[in-house]
Amino acid sequence: MKIASDIDAHELLQLLASRHVPQCNSLLEVGSGGGDFLRKIAGKYHCPAWGVDPFAYDRSDGNIHFQALPAEKIDRIERRFELVYSVHSLHHFDSPQKFFGALQNVLAWNGVFILVDWKDGTDTGIREHYYKTREVNNWLTNYNFKIIEQGETMENMYFVLELRDKKIAVATADGKTVFPKMLGQAPYFDIYLKRQNFQFLERRKNIYQDTMQHLKTLDVYGDIDDCQAILAARIGKKGTERLQEMGVKLFFATGEIWLLLQNLED
Ligand SMILES: C[S@@+](CC[C@H](N)C(=O)[O-])C[C@H]1O[C@@H](n2cnc3c(N)ncnc32)[C@H](O)[C@@H]1O
Repeated sequence: MKIASDIDAHELLQLLASRHVPQCNSLLEVGSGGGDFLRKIAGKYHCPAWGVDPFAYDRSDGNIHFQALPAEKIDRIERRFELVYSVHSLHHFDSPQKFFGALQNVLAWNGVFILVDWKDGTDTGIREHYYKTREVNNWLTNYNFKIIEQGETMENMYFVLELRDKKIAVATADGKTVFPKMLGQAPYFDIYLKRQNFQFLERRKNIYQDTMQHLKTLDVYGDIDDCQAILAARIGKKGTERLQEMGVKLFFATGEIWLLLQNLED
């Protein structure tokens, strides 16, 4: 559907969100201001939502959490989101590049980032500097993103991004099959990169293979937290809940790793 050139930025964001993120379990607004728009979007998706803004104060209002944090440090939240968005805030950030760097670490396996901001040349009546669409586009090429839609309206520019390369950690003992017991007992995690196809990257030893500490799953994930997804035969109930709360995509299966990877249902 064609986007009207005089569409308001917040309506544009909602249109792009409904087009690219039909449903979502967790979302984050970067530069959330007073939080009114975040409440509206969270209400649409009926999911937990986070808003970060350096001038916010830390508080929670039901399922909506506000955190005093600049865009450049969003990876301090230590969880991944299926939808991250920002409206009319990019031009306020001290360093958009640092923000894009941090953003790579908070997008979930199927996470989408939507950016809407005034474009250079727009007269908003405020003495502010706005970026050129081409400038933002050039920055994005330096990071791990794939642009799935971009454009301009009369006053705004917009980008819709996904991660270009994703990583999945596979619990294994022999490198060929998924370890048939609990994730935390696996001897190794084989890390695969997914671009179009899967590619083996490296093997990591599970140093917690024989330990039984409280919150063990979180320690185990600490060694593979650059991965957006995990493939394992089993994970305990509590561990599963904790990983899902952190936005980690979990695939449960046993059998041959290559076969399973090729048939993963996103
Ligand atoms: C024009 S307001 C937009 C607020 C909201 N997104 C909306 O559309 O209603 C810009 C917001 O960017 C925030 N901001 C300024 N510097 C920031 C930074 N470094 N990181 C994140 N947000 C920032 C401001 O505090 C302000 O709330």
